Amino acid sequence: MNILVTGAAGFLGRRLIEALLQRGTLTDRQGLSQNITRIVAFDVVPLAGIDDPRVQVVCGDIAEAKVLESLVDARTDSIFHLAAVVSSQAEQDFELGMRINFSATHNLLERIRSLDTCPKWVMTSSVAVFGGKLPAQVEDDQVWAPQSSYGTQKAMNDLLLADYSRRGFVDGRSLRMPTIVVRPGKPNLAASSFASGIIREPLNGQHSVCPVPLDTRLWLMSPAQAISNLIHGHELAAEQLTQGRVINMPGLSVTVQQMIDALRQTAGDQVASRIAVLPDPAIVRIVGSWPGSFAARYAKDLGFTADHDFADVIGQFMAQYPAHAT
Ligand SMILES: NC(=O)c1ccc[n+]([C@@H]2O[C@H](COP(=O)([O-])OP(=O)(O)OC[C@H]3O[C@@H](n4cnc5c(N)ncnc54)[C@H](O)[C@@H]3O)[C@@H](O)[C@H]2O)c1
Repeated sequence: MNILVTGAAGFLGRRLIEALLQRGTLTDRQGLSQNITRIVAFDVVPLAGIDDPRVQVVCGDIAEAKVLESLVDARTDSIFHLAAVVSSQAEQDFELGMRINFSATHNLLERIRSLDTCPKWVMTSSVAVFGGKLPAQVEDDQVWAPQSSYGTQKAMNDLLLADYSRRGFVDGRSLRMPTIVVRPGKPNLAASSFASGIIREPLNGQHSVCPVPLDTRLWLMSPAQAISNLIHGHELAAEQLTQGRVINMPGLSVTVQQMIDALRQTAGDQVASRIAVLPDPAIVRIVGSWPGSFAARYAKDLGFTADHDFADVIGQFMAQYPAHAT
């Protein structure tokens, strides 16, 4: 199997490539298990630190149509399309968001259409496609009403992918991911960045500011669960996707207060006391528009899974990054 991963050097891209290399096989469009022979790891920054002859690191801007011509050819069996700019960045810079989050996806789909090979395609959509007046638990038939440019760009991609799949240009699956926590490293420009920050920084002996009220409810998933669901999404046969190509993922529904309680339970009072709540209206407006709970019935029927509880998610992070566990 020849695989293209865009956004390869990112949080999910790197983990996905590691998981694919370890797994060694994927299921092709005919339903046959095939060895992974090549992964094109594409990003605007080079993916470093993965030494495997199956990985070919390619650097470039996904929004440049010429780049796409060399990235995807008739041999490309599957694409994991993860490259994007994050929510606050797309809100602050409209043109950048449209260029990377929407036009590049459209161009990539057009490149595939021109090849007439119908590869498998998995991409990551977001809960940010929803907004406005929402029920306590969002059902699979909830009308999309994004309240940010990022959410609008993801919703447009979802529509495009559904239509390109209906017409047989691509065998697409768009997974509506919860916010993925705990992300290691530094804060980023995602409006949801604090969801990792309020766990990661206190564990690292640093203070953290929570920019939303404690009763804000979030829809979360651990990195390990996200990667497992991305691969599961790829492995499903097209015939199983009876309710469409866009799938709300299952997740954990927790309030910020419950996240802090879980941190206290896992790491102690001193660690949990390093969080200060100081609402930021810009973040409250974006994050407050996202649903905090989904029924995700279609996804569960298809075998997608969620984490057990949030303390377990923190435990996974502490086990993987022991330097943080103080
Ligand atoms: N992490 C989450 O909580 C979450 C939740 C829902 C959806 N998603 C989506 O999942 C995908 C991956 O998320 P992530 O957390 O790994 O993000 P990330 O920011 O860590 O990774 C995105 C990658 O895209 C690359 N990129 C940006 N512009 C590019 C360009 N012009 N050309 C090529 N590459 C470019 C970046 O360099 C980065 O490595 C994104 O599409 C994101 O919107 C993430």
